[in-house]
Amino acid sequence: MSDKPDHQRPEHPDFWDKRFDEGTTPWNAGGVPQALRDYVAKQEGRPSALIPGCGHAWEGAWLAQQGWEVTALDFSAAAIEAARVLLGNWQGRLVCGDFFSFAPPAPYELVYERAFLCALPRKLWEDYGRRMHELLAPGGRLIGFFFFSDEPKGPPFGTTPEALDTLLSPWFVREDDCPVGDSIPVFAGRERWQVWRRKD
Ligand SMILES: C[S@@+](CC[C@H](N)C(=O)[O-])C[C@H]1O[C@@H](n2cnc3c(N)ncnc32)[C@H](O)[C@@H]1O
Repeated sequence: MSDKPDHQRPEHPDFWDKRFDEGTTPWNAGGVPQALRDYVAKQEGRPSALIPGCGHAWEGAWLAQQGWEVTALDFSAAAIEAARVLLGNWQGRLVCGDFFSFAPPAPYELVYERAFLCALPRKLWEDYGRRMHELLAPGGRLIGFFFFSDEPKGPPFGTTPEALDTLLSPWFVREDDCPVGDSIPVFAGRERWQVWRRKD
């Protein structure tokens, strides 16, 4: 049990509510990253997609506008409210719930990651790998941005290429790994775009 109040514990929604309420959201890209646009342009179908820890949900709104079946999930009520206000014409499912306990009607074909793993205290990371596997259908893909740093403190909590491999390889096979050209300052030079396919 931590002695810290909930608003100082990133595993608790109060931590994020406080930051959204104060407008202190330095991770907010304010738009859709190019690597996601490029990935989507190459898709033939429109996979069912989950965006866990969606925050302002820019990408969710963009995918939904293109007819994708998107669920954007966040356990911070203030984040969901910020997304709802910002994206007045939201077309997808915007859900307030916890990634670790949320019960979707069916597994997804795609999960999009941005600034979510690095928002979780490292003690939750093993569960992240298992949970991503559980939320995806066989052959489904975990795509997105992973943050690399050896700074012990966070958020953002960085990983290393080796640690990320150890975390995801039991569940996934990596299919792509590229540098990112349009990072915002907090992630610049320290994030990579990756695609991981769920093992059957
Ligand atoms: C650093 S923000 C990133 C938001 C968004 N992905 C973006 O790129 O702007 C991390 C988000 O994850 C959410 N979050 C953290 N733990 C969560 C959990 N267990 N379930 C759902 N959302 C969670 C927080 O509320 C916060 O909105």
